[in-house]
Amino acid sequence: KNRVRTFARTVLVGVVLGSGYIIWRSYDQRHPGEQLPHDPSLPTVVVLGNGWGSTAFLKDLDNTGYNVVVISPRNYFLFTPLLPSVTVGTLSSRSILEPTRFLTRHLKRKTEVYEGEVYEVDPEKKTVRFIDNSEIKGAVSGTEIPYDYLVYAVGAENQTFGIKGVNENACFLKEVWDAEKIRTRIMDCIEAANFAGQPQSEIDRLLSFVVVGGGPTGVEYAGELHDFLKEDLGNWYPELADKINITLIEALPSVLPMFSKQLIDYTMDSFKENKIDIATKTMVKEVKEKVVVAQNEKKEIVEYPYGLLVWATGNTARQVTRDLMSRLSSTQNSRRGLLVDEHMRLIGADGIFAMGDCTATNYAPTAQVASQQGKYLARVMSKLHKKDQLLKELEQAKQAGAEPAKLDSLANAVIRASNIAPFHYSHQGSLAYIGSDKAIADLPVFSGNLAAAGLATYYFWRSAYISQLFSLRNRVLVATDWLKTKVLGRDVSRA
Ligand code: FAD
Ligand code: NAI
Repeated sequence: KNRVRTFARTVLVGVVLGSGYIIWRSYDQRHPGEQLPHDPSLPTVVVLGNGWGSTAFLKDLDNTGYNVVVISPRNYFLFTPLLPSVTVGTLSSRSILEPTRFLTRHLKRKTEVYEGEVYEVDPEKKTVRFIDNSEIKGAVSGTEIPYDYLVYAVGAENQTFGIKGVNENACFLKEVWDAEKIRTRIMDCIEAANFAGQPQSEIDRLLSFVVVGGGPTGVEYAGELHDFLKEDLGNWYPELADKINITLIEALPSVLPMFSKQLIDYTMDSFKENKIDIATKTMVKEVKEKVVVAQNEKKEIVEYPYGLLVWATGNTARQVTRDLMSRLSSTQNSRRGLLVDEHMRLIGADGIFAMGDCTATNYAPTAQVASQQGKYLARVMSKLHKKDQLLKELEQAKQAGAEPAKLDSLANAVIRASNIAPFHYSHQGSLAYIGSDKAIADLPVFSGNLAAAGLATYYFWRSAYISQLFSLRNRVLVATDWLKTKVLGRDVSRA
């Protein structure tokens, strides 16, 4: 009896403390304090983008010594690893967004955040030009601002390899509106298939969900789609659910080439069990309005009729990045993206740092890399500020005729502050969700690799991502969505 009482008391204390912590953190987050004002004597750091790289940068930045301006076409950070879950309503889109102002209002010095798309960077004049490309515009919808330092992290856009019909007929999965569009279209296909008198051939086509690209984006989306089908659609559309088929088309011999062989085999077996067809060694050549045209390993042309097509074949450089590369064509000659040195400085330009998916480095274009680069650059900026301060002090000491020992010590401090270690990437492992409450993980342990898969890995995947969400608010929202989906199921309204 006593044990039960002690246990109940411990749980109660835990709940009270936990709730208190959540309330206190939420209050603190929602009531930012005073900030230092804009100081025209300080250098201006312009940050392009508010994705993984820029957000990690802003989160760790001490901007006492800088005026910071953030420019991005969207006014929020998107937690991309959980985006596939939004396509079927496992998570609500708002749960994985974080307004950038929630972050910048907590910085030490006032920071400007402009919702705008940068279309030109002039590395000579050190300026950027940007426009408001949203539906509602004021009298001014385009301008130019100068920078002393530019943090360039605009990410990449969807790769289509110029394949005919992709842009017109396929959905992508990069932004939150892509996921919402997919969610609506899934239900649209199902309702169209359910329409009175629909011929069988059209039902079959409309219920064919095709995914092109067997990288992690394509695989995770296929896994989520399968869960929706199995856990929800079967109950509400019993006559149609059996007819739904999911096909994943991949040009290489296997999906997920970045994972270890046993995890690739595990994923392929799990997909087979879940009746997700995988067509490997099959290269899509053209996308028609209702049919994907591909070439298989025997060089035969194969056609895949579809109701919904999701295209996930990786990244390519954005137009603004390509323009910047052509301005610096004597040093920027990689087709993959911007070339940077080991300190993330853009080669051939002064005062520009570039990171994340817009760069061409030896690292994979992942959130993990971009966020580590963002944190690194925040440290670099602190060191640069310290160096500038010491240089000023040295100059003043010289003018005041300070003793040689004092001058030597200041000069040595400048040298120390100038000595910035190069960026070092620490790989924390690769994780992917593959559907049916299973995830796969390649984790570096000691000097080897641990390949894990299954239900336990799925809980690890969930806890890893919930802990990586940037705010407590998002953690609460995501955890609540997971609980809602488990208890109440997913919504099938075509909202
Ligand atoms: P992004 O995060 O893409 O940010 C780019 C920013 O630039 C955005 O804010 C954008 O609005 C802004 N921008 C665009 N154009 C302009 C412009 N002209 N002017 C100004 N701003 C501009 N990686 C992992 O490590 N683990 C995962 O589980 C994972 N899952 C993913 C799932 C999906 C569905 C996708 C699409 C990607 C996933 N990734 C994952 C990859 C990861 O999201 C990217 O590598 C990461 O977002 C790169 O960060 P970034 O800062 O370079 O670019
Ligand atoms: P990707 O580049 O990883 O994979 C694209 C796949 O499409 C490739 O396997 C390629 O062979 C295939 N492909 C290309 N053209 C094709 C064609 N015409 N026909 C058929 N197949 C074709 O792209 P993805 O999945 O969009 O990922 C982009 C980046 O984001 C990667 O670096 C990835 O690691 C990262 N990411 C990581 C995740 C995770 O760690 N869980 C989740 C999602 C993305």
